[in-house]
Amino acid sequence: MLSIPIDIRLPRSPHIVTSLPGPRAKAIVERDRAVTSPSYTRDYPLVVARGEGCMVEGVDGNVFLDMTAGIAVTATGHAHPEVVQAIQEQAAMLLHMSGTDFYYEPMVELAEKLAIRAPFPPLPSPPLEGEGSGKTSFPARVFFSNSGTESNEGAIKLARYYTGRSLIVAFLGSFHGRTYGAMSLTGSKTVQRANFGPLLPGVTHIPYGTHASLDYLEKQLFPTMLPPKEVAAIVVEAIQGEGGYIVPEDGFLQRLREICDRYGILMIVDEVQSGMGRTGRLFAIEHWGVMPDIITTAKGIDYMNECNIYH
Ligand SMILES: Cc1ncc(COP(=O)(O)O)c(C=O)c1O
Repeated sequence: MLSIPIDIRLPRSPHIVTSLPGPRAKAIVERDRAVTSPSYTRDYPLVVARGEGCMVEGVDGNVFLDMTAGIAVTATGHAHPEVVQAIQEQAAMLLHMSGTDFYYEPMVELAEKLAIRAPFPPLPSPPLEGEGSGKTSFPARVFFSNSGTESNEGAIKLARYYTGRSLIVAFLGSFHGRTYGAMSLTGSKTVQRANFGPLLPGVTHIPYGTHASLDYLEKQLFPTMLPPKEVAAIVVEAIQGEGGYIVPEDGFLQRLREICDRYGILMIVDEVQSGMGRTGRLFAIEHWGVMPDIITTAKGIDYMNECNIYH
């Protein structure tokens, strides 16, 4: 129930009142350069003061259309009143508990919702939401983490642990994060890996989204270099994001699923960027009717929680 009134104060279209960057933005950029790590990859000197919906206002009063949605995070727009209200209520109730050590009902509720909604094989009689009696079985389990990259770290560990295998296949052009495991899966830009090696061993990259690539995997790599029975997982974005918003060829994801099934390989779908409704379905993989073994999600899920969901 919406109790905070929607108060649109920013113009609904861009409104530029200074030359860019404005004087306050310039001064903050200079202070930033003196004190924050130069490893941040800022593309242009936007210094944000606040946001509403899809508009952001800079510190000099210039108003911009936010084409990035906070790099795919603000799925409901900036400062959505219901989101603001939920965060305010939660902050007033409990600011921190350790889900690894203790229990908390909202954590269970979110896990139940995700486990029911994620595209995994349905149970004969689906559980009712919120009916976590402890005896109810769900089609999936949820592991919460702090970021998309950490969600992918969890997925790598889970796949290796579960299969007892070590090798992983990922795709050129993909982005999975900046921590060591996720960076090892990433095949997007060399600058993201340069001088950080050695990375996680056993990761092989193939081109994204084409049947020719899957032919290469099956007909060339598997018989010569990459024993399929040692491959723990294939990690794939349902739609490649940082790689250029690439939709895979028809049948690509279905065929990938078949290859995984044939060799006992887990299919991990990274929905960190494509998930949470950004493509018109909660998870982009649902457009293809493919059921993965693990889904990693972050960003749009709720601005703060990230997780992987597996079955
Ligand atoms: C597909 C994908 N996976 C993982 C990540 C890493 O997420 P995070 O920045 O929350 O660590 C990103 C970030 O852009 C992403 O686009």
